[in-house]
Amino acid sequence: MFAASAVAFSSEDPLSALNTGDHPEPEVPEGWTVVDVRATSVNHHDLWTLKGVGISADRLPMILGCDAAGLDEDGNEVIVHAVISSGRYADETMDPARSLLSERHPGTFAERVAVPRRNLVAKPPELTWAEAACLPTAWLTAYRMLFTRSGLVPGQTVLVQGAGGGVSTALIMLARQAGLRVWVTSRDEAKRARAEDLGAHAAFASGARLPEKVDVVLETVGAATWAHSLRSLRPGGRIVIAGATSGSQPPADLSRVFFLQLSVVGSTMGTRDELERLVAMCQATGLRPLIDRELPLTEARQALAHVAAGDLFGKIVLTR
Ligand SMILES: NC(=O)c1ccc[n+]([C@@H]2O[C@H](COP(=O)([O-])OP(=O)(O)OC[C@H]3O[C@@H](n4cnc5c(N)ncnc54)[C@H](OP(=O)(O)O)[C@@H]3O)[C@@H](O)[C@H]2O)c1
Repeated sequence: MFAASAVAFSSEDPLSALNTGDHPEPEVPEGWTVVDVRATSVNHHDLWTLKGVGISADRLPMILGCDAAGLDEDGNEVIVHAVISSGRYADETMDPARSLLSERHPGTFAERVAVPRRNLVAKPPELTWAEAACLPTAWLTAYRMLFTRSGLVPGQTVLVQGAGGGVSTALIMLARQAGLRVWVTSRDEAKRARAEDLGAHAAFASGARLPEKVDVVLETVGAATWAHSLRSLRPGGRIVIAGATSGSQPPADLSRVFFLQLSVVGSTMGTRDELERLVAMCQATGLRPLIDRELPLTEARQALAHVAAGDLFGKIVLTR
């Protein structure tokens, strides 16, 4: 079958570590099943894998990709929950032994992928394959940040750092739908305008002084925006962080954290139950993931190049 895999690691030139082409069919352990992948979406995680972050060399070659929507062995339309856990934790994201598809087990940039049966969630017919393939990683992460980890209630103000990414666009749309006042930053003027079109109440240049302090900051950028996130919070405010694209070792500014009684809360992916609720929210509200572009699975290299260049607004989807 066709697949796109990491065959080496390169932090300087991650695409040099990518191989696209023929790959053996998946092995199917007891309790697992095979999904015929109709659509998958690209995440920054796929670039981290090509850089050797979150994966060890003894796992190579490794098929990339966390997200999949497709057909199960009985022909049912399904969405794959990407968190592979031991099954011993009700909240799979708290399982110390958890991994994401493409970390220890082959991922979804392939014609077929093996997954535990319990990781399948029904895909409602009103979601397209491409829309469904955006939900398991970027949209689920945004959902948990907002609705499980932030403590936000309607009417409060939230700042989303970064505008164009898969998680950022999901945060903007979900937060607006949830009745929050949504502020966004971006390095790029055109992306700021697009964020406002998408539902943000205001968009600011990265690092700009805000007109008021906010209740919560939603972070996936990391070092480049961390100081601004701390400066932007009201006393008692909270940062929810799920990623550090620009680096994970910024100055901590500890005196601001204790003097203003700030909280820093981590968030990772989401549970299978949260994925089901996200799907239900899309059904109930008509909200749909923003898709930047769709490419054939065979063009995975081109899709990853767009993510590496930051040349996207929303999700890039690979279809068959
Ligand atoms: N913990 C988890 O479970 C989890 C799940 C999903 C994602 N993540 C992580 O979250 C991050 C985002 O993922 P993604 O797939 O949404 O990535 P992406 O689509 O590549 O988005 C990158 C975002 O970062 C912003 N950005 C990048 N460099 C920046 C800089 N130097 N200064 C300011 N903004 C910058 C961009 O904003 P502008 O271009 O608008 O400025 C864009 O919104 C990644 O690090 C990923 O690994 C973690």
